[in-house]
Amino acid sequence: MDFLKTMSAGVCYYPEHWDESLWESDLKRMLDNGIHTVRIGEFAWSIMEREEGSFDFSFFDRFLDLCASTGMQVIFGTPTATPPAWLTCRYPETLNANADGVLYRHGGRRHYNYNSPVYREKVALLVGKMAEHWGRHPAIVGWQIDNELNCETNDFLSEADGKAFRVFLQKKYASLDALNEAWGTVFWSQTYTDWEQIDVPHTNAIASHNPSLLLDYVRFVSASALSFCTMQTEILRKFIEPRMFVTTNGMFGRLDNHEMARNILDVYMYDSYPNFAYGIDQTWDEDSLHDRHSSLDLTRVRSICPHFGIMEQQSGANGWYNRMEASMPRPGQLELWAMQSVAHGADYVSFFRWRTSPVGTEIYWHGILDYDSRDNRRLREVKAFAEDLEKIQEVCGADTDARFGVLQTVDNQFDADVDHWHGRVQKASEEGIFAAAQETHTTFDFVDLRQNTKLEELERYPVLFAPHFVILKEEETALLKAYVEQGGTLVIGCRTGYKDASGRCPMQPMPGLLREMTGTTVEEYTFRSPAEDMAEAEWNGRKLHVDCFMESLQAEEGTEVLARYTTSYLKGEPVLTERTVGKGRVLHFGGVFTRQAARRFLKNLGLAEPYEDLVKAPDTVEIVGRVKDGQKWLFVLNYLPEAQEIRLGEELVSLLDGEKAEGRVEIPAYSVAVYRI
Ligand code: GLA
Repeated sequence: MDFLKTMSAGVCYYPEHWDESLWESDLKRMLDNGIHTVRIGEFAWSIMEREEGSFDFSFFDRFLDLCASTGMQVIFGTPTATPPAWLTCRYPETLNANADGVLYRHGGRRHYNYNSPVYREKVALLVGKMAEHWGRHPAIVGWQIDNELNCETNDFLSEADGKAFRVFLQKKYASLDALNEAWGTVFWSQTYTDWEQIDVPHTNAIASHNPSLLLDYVRFVSASALSFCTMQTEILRKFIEPRMFVTTNGMFGRLDNHEMARNILDVYMYDSYPNFAYGIDQTWDEDSLHDRHSSLDLTRVRSICPHFGIMEQQSGANGWYNRMEASMPRPGQLELWAMQSVAHGADYVSFFRWRTSPVGTEIYWHGILDYDSRDNRRLREVKAFAEDLEKIQEVCGADTDARFGVLQTVDNQFDADVDHWHGRVQKASEEGIFAAAQETHTTFDFVDLRQNTKLEELERYPVLFAPHFVILKEEETALLKAYVEQGGTLVIGCRTGYKDASGRCPMQPMPGLLREMTGTTVEEYTFRSPAEDMAEAEWNGRKLHVDCFMESLQAEEGTEVLARYTTSYLKGEPVLTERTVGKGRVLHFGGVFTRQAARRFLKNLGLAEPYEDLVKAPDTVEIVGRVKDGQKWLFVLNYLPEAQEIRLGEELVSLLDGEKAEGRVEIPAYSVAVYRI
C-alpha cells in the first residue's frame, strides 16, 4: 500500500449534497489548499440503487472521472450504514430492534442489523457491483467499509440477532450442558433445556441478566460486526486492484478492533473530534484534560494500528440539531488538533467535512467551509496544516517513542463493559495513568495481549502495567512470566485474577494465576465506601493514594513490602509489594492507579520526564516522542489559549519554522512545535 508512505491531508466530501456545477471548483479549491484525497459515498445507497435491483452508477461515474481529470484521489465508502427506505420497508427483518424488541425505523442511520440474511444479500449484491464497476478506477486509492461500525448503538436485539446468537453459542459450547456450566445457570434457576430458550438480552429480564450470558453476548456483537466487515472486504478484494487499500473508520465499543485491523483490513482509520473532550453537553470539569484528553483515544488507536489514518478530523464546531453541541475551534486549534493526531501516529489526516451541510441532522456539524462557501479562517488553517505536513515529511512512518506499556486484553475490555465494578476500576486506572503520563511528558503505548503475541513485542517496554487483569488465562500468565524473567518490570493492580474466561470466580486466592509470580495473596478487599475518606499509604517516604478499591496483601517469603496503609481500617497492612523473578520484578499494588498513584509509580520507576535534559516544559504542555531508524522527533503541543514557555537544553532544529532553537522558547497559544532531536 503506497498511500501512507507520505503524510497527506484529505477531506470528506458528499457530491450528492451539492449541485453538480460546484464539483469542479470544489475539487480545484481543495487541491489549491493542499487536500489531495476525498472520502465519498458512505451514505449514498439511494443514489446507486434508488429502487430494488435498479443500479445506476452514472452519478458517481461523473464525479470519479472529474476526480481523475483534476488529480484528486478518492477513498470510496460502501454505503451500507444507511439502507434506503425501500429496503427496510420491504424487508423489516433487516432492522435492528431496541431493548424492548421494537424495530427501529427509517429516518436515521445504522438502523440495520448485521445478521439478517436479507440485509447481507442486499449488501453483498451492491458492494459486488460497486467493486466490479469501480475496482480499477484510476482515481480510487482505497475503500472504506460501511461507516463507524457499532456507532449509534452497539446493542443488536433483532430476531436475526437472536437466531445468530444461538448459532454462535452452539458453535462455542456444542452442548447445553457445557453452556449451563460455563454460565453458572444453576443460579436463580436459569438452566436452559432447549437452545430456543436462549435469546439476546432484551430488557425482559427483571433485576439483571446473567453476566456470563452478557459477556458472550458482547463477544457475539463483536463477532457479528467482524463477519459483516469480512464479508464486504472479501467481495471488494475479488475485484479491486491490489494497489487499493481497504479500511474502515472507528473507534467504537463491543468490537475487537485489533482483530479487525490485523486480519481483515489493510489499515485502520479513526474519527477524531477533540472538542468532545469538553463534554458533549459542554460541562466543564476543571480536572479533565479537555481536548488534550483525545490523546488517550489516539494512544488506543495506535495499539490497533501503529500507523493509522484519521478519516474524520474535526474542522469546525460540532452539533446535531438535537445534541452534541461544541464550539468553533479557536484560531490555531484546528491545526493543533490535526497535529495531535500526527504526533500520535497518524500519517493521513482527512478533515470532516468540506462544507457544512445545509440540510439534515448535522446542520450544526461544521466543516471547513460554512454554508456560504466563502474562503474563511478554517480553510486558511487547513492550508497551513497541509504545508506544515510537508515540512515534517521525514517523520512519516516513525513509531512513538513509548517509555512504558499498559497491557490490555479483549476479554477484559468486554468484561469491563458488562461488569460495572470491573469497568469502574479499569476506567479509573486508564484515566489516572494517562493523566500522570501526560503531566510528566511520558509517552506510553497500550499493548494488546493476544493468543499469538510474541515476547519480542513486550520486550521493548522496560515496564508494563496490567492494571486490572480481572480475567487471566494460562497462556497470558506464561507470556508475562517470560517477559519478567528476561528483565521486564510488571506492575499489577487490584482485582487481578478473580474471574475465568466465562466470568466465573475460581475458588482460589487472588491474584489467581499470577500468585506465584507476585509472591502475594490478597487477604482483604473492599471498594472504598463513599462514607469513608480515601485511604493512604507511604512509599519511599511519600504519600500514595489508595482510592476506589483497597486490597491488603500478604507477602510470602522472598517478597518485599514497599508500602503499607497509613490510614483506614487496613492501617499497617501491606498494599504494595515487589518480588524478583529471573532478571525482572513484579510489583503488586492493591489499589487503583489514580492520577496521584500513577504519578508515584512513574516517578519511582524512573519513567517520568524522559526528555527532561532536552526539554523542560510545564505539565500543561503535551510532549510526544516519535522515533525512526535511530532518529527522534519531539512534538510539543500547547492546548491553552495563551503562550507557554519551555526550555530547550541544547540547540534543536525546529522543523515547522526551519530555525534553530535553544534556551527559552515560547509556544504560542493553540500551537505545536516539532523538534528533531
Ligand atoms: C461521525 C460520522 C460522520 C458524521 C460525524 C458527525 O464521525 O462518521 O458521518 O456523522 O460523526 O456527526
